[in-house]
Amino acid sequence: MIQLKNIDRSYKSGVGQTWVLRRIHMEILEGEFVTIMGPSGSGKSSLLNILGLLDDDWQGEYWFGEQAVHKLNRKQRADLSRRSMGMVFQSYHLLDDLTVAENIDLPLSYKNIPSSERQAMVADVLDRFRMVAKKDLFPSQLSGGQQQLVGIARAVIHKPALLLADEPTGNLHSIQAKEIMELFRELNQQGATIVQVTHSGLNATYGTRTVELSDGWIVSDSARPKLQQSEEGRA
Ligand SMILES: Nc1ncnc2c1ncn2[C@@H]1O[C@H](COP(=O)(O)OP(=O)(O)O)[C@@H](O)[C@H]1O
Ligand SMILES: [Mg+2]
Repeated sequence: MIQLKNIDRSYKSGVGQTWVLRRIHMEILEGEFVTIMGPSGSGKSSLLNILGLLDDDWQGEYWFGEQAVHKLNRKQRADLSRRSMGMVFQSYHLLDDLTVAENIDLPLSYKNIPSSERQAMVADVLDRFRMVAKKDLFPSQLSGGQQQLVGIARAVIHKPALLLADEPTGNLHSIQAKEIMELFRELNQQGATIVQVTHSGLNATYGTRTVELSDGWIVSDSARPKLQQSEEGRA
């Protein structure tokens, strides 16, 4: 589904350059549930933002199916992201002045879908996520766990092939976190390919594969047990 070849990401810092991701090679197969782990600052969010097409400023090759993402312009990338991806964030990123139902409807508003059909899709996802009674509330009236459920409902309402989540349970209590992870497992079993970033070893057990970053390098990958730190020519 996804192939990253030799992805580099850096920032200008004073006179020089700070590397955030170095020579990232990674293949993600359809149906995988990948967990990215690593210390703070190791590049996890940077990698997820590249995958989610929120970042344009990188070098290397990114293939999404047959599409050469590295050759697409910004508009084509935005189209691909809206069509095929959903993203979930640690801090939920809901719009405070929209209701639960309006937040969930948002991704559909970018598509050419008749409003009756949109309403049916929102009703369906509210039902699936057991949030019908909450549909007219505002995010501030919900617990963190419920806000994240809205965030996930919004990310999956258009049935994206790829779901990306950056520390989705980082602000939640363990019971709420467990509920979110069980939902992810269910979505994965229904066919979504998932990439999550987490610090939690427990959350990682819900995935099918773990990739570890350190200082911007992939230092281990359970799908490539023989990967050595030196394999990619680490300097
Ligand atoms: N906009 C930016 N400008 C400069 N450095 C940045 C910027 N964003 C991230 N970084 C740096 O990139 C590195 C990796 O960040 P990040 O991908 O957020 O790590 P993680 O998610 O693993 O904690 C960090 O050293 C961070 O300071
Ligand atoms: Mg991060």
